Amino acid sequence: MSFDPNRYRDDFPILSRCAASGAPLAFLDNAASTQRPQAVIDAVSDCYQRYYANVHRGIHTLSEESTAAYEQARSTTRQFINAASDCEIIFTAGTTAAINTVAHSWGNTNLAAGDVVLLTIAEHHANIVPWHQLAERSGCRVEFLPLGDDFTMNDQLVAEKLQSLNPKLFAFTAASNVIGTRFPVATWTRLAHDAGATVLIDAAQAAPHETVDVQQWDADFVAFSGHKICGPNGIGVLYGKQKWLEAMPPFLGGGGMIDRVTTTGFTPAELPEKFEAGTPPIAPAIGLAAAMRYLQAVGLDDIAQHEHVLCKAADTALREIPGVQIIGPTPDKKGGIVSFTIDGVHAHDVAQWLDTRGVAVRAGHHCAMPLHDSLGKTASTRASFYLYNTLDEVERFVAAVKEAREKFARGGRRRRRRNPSPAS
Ligand code: ALA
Repeated sequence: MSFDPNRYRDDFPILSRCAASGAPLAFLDNAASTQRPQAVIDAVSDCYQRYYANVHRGIHTLSEESTAAYEQARSTTRQFINAASDCEIIFTAGTTAAINTVAHSWGNTNLAAGDVVLLTIAEHHANIVPWHQLAERSGCRVEFLPLGDDFTMNDQLVAEKLQSLNPKLFAFTAASNVIGTRFPVATWTRLAHDAGATVLIDAAQAAPHETVDVQQWDADFVAFSGHKICGPNGIGVLYGKQKWLEAMPPFLGGGGMIDRVTTTGFTPAELPEKFEAGTPPIAPAIGLAAAMRYLQAVGLDDIAQHEHVLCKAADTALREIPGVQIIGPTPDKKGGIVSFTIDGVHAHDVAQWLDTRGVAVRAGHHCAMPLHDSLGKTASTRASFYLYNTLDEVERFVAAVKEAREKFARGGRRRRRRNPSPAS
């Protein structure tokens, strides 16, 4: 393996701690939130210690230095995703806030009763609920593309649905936070545009793990979060093509997003301030830029390749454990995520047992209930990898899953003998 995660582990102070059990931490919950390298912690701390003040408002040294650093963070973000202009980068509170901004601002203006928003069944709630809410407001309807048996989706089916449903918007995840499937963003965007649809990409699980090029994707909107790419939490990015952002009304109103306010109305500011009402996430933006520089220095292609190695090792080993069902495609079609169930064992029991071994994973529906419903599951356990995870951690994870199966499946069999219809 050419990529050595041990070169980077010392950059992340938190990775040296132990879990409550005293076992060394193996942090495999990166799809929920990643950890931060010292460079990000230092960037945020430096801002607060040396030059923090509100931005775009003060005619004094600290405000001017803060404003310059905040706007430099915007330029770094533009470069990170290869947007055409800084004014296409809107800092939000996260992916959820970014998608809600589009649903309100673009959605309220462009969708009406009878219109269709097309999603995939693999979406996170953040890319479902805002469209249900828009449907309640506008009378539009939300349709879902189903998954194939191999946990992927056929381009032909996508093209057919785009033609037959004629959606105004096709909003889909670049990579599922549960099954890990990576969807062909540029291909689907082209198909959607051919069918006359606008395209929004939920890149929350893609931006941390691969080079995102919004111009190559040609998507109209792209959303992702800071806390999933080694940055601070409380910040995310909405990318929008300038032509859309200029045509859209502001979503939140308040200070910073206006050119002029009178007793009878207001004139919005130019982009990007138009969509950044109130004091923006100043130190988080500066930390986010540090995270982007860190990831680019490590190399996003190398990170993707390393995660593939870890994912393949975990996936292969789990498939050999009797009673373990992997929820997701083969590793060549997914990012660094392995979700699974164990027959007769609740996902929470698995995660709790793994924690006693120091292995942090997520269990539940992972904010993707429609996906779990479509698979006939109520919950799953998910391991998700990042640049600092090692093959040794994967081995500890697999060993702990085997133990959990031994411990709880036996208990489950005993319980079932006493109670033939157990709740799951
Ligand atoms: N969206 C995050 C996850 O998948 C929270 O866990």
